[in-house]
Amino acid sequence: MKNLNKILIGTVFFSLAVAFCAYAEEMKMPVNVPASAFATPAVQAPVEKTTLDNLQTAFNGESNANARYLVFAKKADEEGYGRAASLFRAAARAEQVHFERHAKVIKELGGVPTANIETPVVKSTQENLKAAMEGEIYESTVMYPEFLAKAEKDNIKGASDAFEDAGRAEGVHASLYKQALGNLKGWKGGNKDFYVCPFCGNVVEKALFKVCPLCGESRKNFITVQ
Ligand SMILES: [Fe+2]
Ligand SMILES: [Fe+2]
Repeated sequence: MKNLNKILIGTVFFSLAVAFCAYAEEMKMPVNVPASAFATPAVQAPVEKTTLDNLQTAFNGESNANARYLVFAKKADEEGYGRAASLFRAAARAEQVHFERHAKVIKELGGVPTANIETPVVKSTQENLKAAMEGEIYESTVMYPEFLAKAEKDNIKGASDAFEDAGRAEGVHASLYKQALGNLKGWKGGNKDFYVCPFCGNVVEKALFKVCPLCGESRKNFITVQ
């Protein structure tokens, strides 16, 4: 019996020793995990957009604004806001001035102008005017000033001139939409003439000047839009 106990105790100790050796061996084994897995994940710095990227963004934005305003104009005519419809068409023509100029600079920089035209969300004319005004405010106070600063830093004159002119014109569009929103009844009735600068996209109701107050383009070249 004593011998049996000794054998059992010996077996237990032997098993524990084998298990311990296996564990120790395991701890010494090289771990086949790439070192990068233990590295602190690198914080991805935001990639700064290039001026060419910004031109593409502006080209896409202006192309969509053009499409949106033409649909808004149709809706305004349907609702009897003829003057607002004319404003939308004039602004649409101005956005065309902008996207054509951006396209020209994109090509000069070796790019291909690309736009993804989304189906416009059309609501009441009052809501459409508000949406249009907000878009113009964003472009004139945030987007174009940022794009202009980058283009100036990059010393790409064609782009900085295009951004500066477009930004100023968007400010004028915003104020016209604001006027319409402030007195919507006054924008009912028939269509009326607006005048669009073919160089900077300025829009005016009365072109009582010899040259565009924003860019110096001759009044003679202004486009009449109704
Ligand atoms: Fe605009
Ligand atoms: Fe102009």
